[in-house]
Amino acid sequence: MRIIFKNIKELLQVRKEAISFVSGKQMAILPSIKHAYLVVENGLITDFGSMDTCPEIQADSVVDASGKMLMPSWCDAHTHIVYAGNREAEFVQRIQGMGYEEIAAAGGGILNSAKKLQETSEDSLYEQSSVRLEALIGLGTGAIEIKSGYGLTLEAELKMLRVIRRLKEAYPIEIKATFLGAHAVPEKYKGNKHAYLKMLIDEVLPKVAKEKLAEYIDIFCEKGYFDLADTALMLAAGKKYGWIPKIHVNQFSAFGGVGLGVQFNALSVDHLEEMRAEDIEVLKETKTMPVALPGCSFFLGIPYTPARKMIQAGLPLALASDYNPGSSPSGNMNLVVSLACIKMKMTPEEAINAATINGAYAMGLENEVGSISIGKQANLILTKPLNSYAFIPYAFGSNQIEKVFIKGKEVHPF
Ligand code: NIG
Ligand code: FE
Repeated sequence: MRIIFKNIKELLQVRKEAISFVSGKQMAILPSIKHAYLVVENGLITDFGSMDTCPEIQADSVVDASGKMLMPSWCDAHTHIVYAGNREAEFVQRIQGMGYEEIAAAGGGILNSAKKLQETSEDSLYEQSSVRLEALIGLGTGAIEIKSGYGLTLEAELKMLRVIRRLKEAYPIEIKATFLGAHAVPEKYKGNKHAYLKMLIDEVLPKVAKEKLAEYIDIFCEKGYFDLADTALMLAAGKKYGWIPKIHVNQFSAFGGVGLGVQFNALSVDHLEEMRAEDIEVLKETKTMPVALPGCSFFLGIPYTPARKMIQAGLPLALASDYNPGSSPSGNMNLVVSLACIKMKMTPEEAINAATINGAYAMGLENEVGSISIGKQANLILTKPLNSYAFIPYAFGSNQIEKVFIKGKEVHPF
């Protein structure tokens, strides 16, 4: 099966030489080819270049992309899309003045979602989650990470992870699974956090490992949730099973979680709304990707990750949606990219780099997706006719997607 895209107004994020991620000043550069062609064979990108050099070859399908941009799909490296029900009642409580942490302390928040999920069958959870995933693919997401962490019991955590596995089997996009059992201390263990962590380590981790349900390990390292010692304990326990850390840190408070993540060779440290100079310093020259979640900052009205300071310091940055029922009930990466430009003052080039190649790296998929490179999956966004790609973040709240291709197959609308 061969497809040729011809007359592409601009082919974005072209990387002839393989790269893992971009950082610092490099983030401002988005390599592209104007008036381009691209060839896809058996789901992979096999050739591309300027239309002047377009080969005369037969194809099963020719797409005329006149006036339109072609770019790699979004890579969303941090989501919680497997959940049951929603929490719009808490949203209204917050509008009326209650705080996110106050609601959580009163039994709402993560514990509210855990209760709902425990009462939901695996099939129903799968149905609810697949609706979300299909919508996201239609919005241009071509690779995604999904976390557990709304189960908080052995059975319910396994249920979440099995749903993620079913999604992996049923959908053509790359999906990575992260174990986030240490997301909150469940009601049953109130005041007994250590017993909960011990239960996770002794009972849950071995079963998750036996069924090969996770690639990464996460923990909510935050005041009132899990501290540095808890984080070190969980990450060390996960390491025994070969799980690489991707952790929630510095959402509301900064107390050394970023440095700890780096010590454990975390693939990513995520949230980072609160960043001290030393947190930026400790990330320099490491392989740990900082991940910003502007949808969460927007929805909760909390600070945005200081992208300018971090990029100025030479760091890379990835953007992800954090799609979850409590702090970011949207997985629309087009909006995430807009928010990054509008609220974090990232340029369109920086934001697109952060939401493609850097996002791919933050879930270990930089060799498969995230750029227009030979051998990578043809997970592509074909835009509507556009003047320039800056229109993508500019037109916030809408999206400029005409068609989505996953492994070369058109899937939009799903
Ligand atoms: O990434 N901060 C921790 N976990 C999620 C939100 C959890 C929730 O409110 O359900 C997050 O924002
Ligand atoms: Fe999250």
